[in-house]
Amino acid sequence: MSDFRFSVTMKELPAPRIHPSADIDPSATIGKGSLVWHQVQIREHSSIGSECTLSKGVYIDRGVTIGNRVKVQNHVSIYQGVTLEDGVFVGPNATFTNDFQPRSVTRDGELRTENDWKVIPTVIREGAAICANATVICGITIGKWAMIGAGAVITRDVPDHALMVGVPARIMGFVSYSGNRMVEDETPDLSKLTVRMRDLKSDEIVEIPTETYQLWKKI
Ligand SMILES: CC(C)(COP(=O)(O)OP(=O)(O)OC[C@H]1O[C@@H](n2cnc3c(N)ncnc32)[C@H](O)[C@@H]1OP(=O)(O)O)[C@@H](O)C(=O)NCCC(=O)NCCS
Repeated sequence: MSDFRFSVTMKELPAPRIHPSADIDPSATIGKGSLVWHQVQIREHSSIGSECTLSKGVYIDRGVTIGNRVKVQNHVSIYQGVTLEDGVFVGPNATFTNDFQPRSVTRDGELRTENDWKVIPTVIREGAAICANATVICGITIGKWAMIGAGAVITRDVPDHALMVGVPARIMGFVSYSGNRMVEDETPDLSKLTVRMRDLKSDEIVEIPTETYQLWKKI
């Protein structure tokens, strides 16, 4: 599922370091080299990859899968149905969801149980960054190496490398693997399948599908 950036040499990594105040279900697995900080809770059958950092107060729900080299900042909850692939960054107080139309009770006022609703999955693809206080509505895929600006509300799928801001979030441009804004490398030929974008700081080139580029430019 991942490219070369996430090849982890398990042998060279130490056992995960877990703060004594963390509450970890025995059925959860945590990869080598990972750090689990104060008051983290990790629920049943969840899986945390290698070299991850779970900062203070992070909550990992039942059956959640987190890839390698993922960083989750303070007080973020990763609910059932949310998958974080390798190299994902989640900023402080970012919010995920797993129920599209929540209610505590039925129309008759009876308490709703787990059988009365269905978990709606959300996937954050490799290398993507969700910045501080952003909210991700469930049922969405955030593309590889995308960046979600602070405070954005994501209501639709996000293309690879897209930079999203606002409420509801819209494409503000494209970012490289390094996370810098990119510019067109040449005058785009819209009859081609992709547009070449360049990160002027790192000199990386990323090919953006012409369809996605046009979405941004509203051509
Ligand atoms: C989205 C972000 C990466 C954009 O950075 P940038 O490309 O340097 O953008 P600029 O600062 O040049 O801003 C460009 C415009 O977008 C606006 N903008 C920037 N970030 C925004 C955001 N998160 N939401 C809404 N608008 C934003 C700016 O106000 C500016 O608007 P203007 O042209 O009308 O003045 C950055 O602002 C951001 O949100 N970083 C996240 C920080 C964070 O949460 N880190 C988590 C770990 S602590």
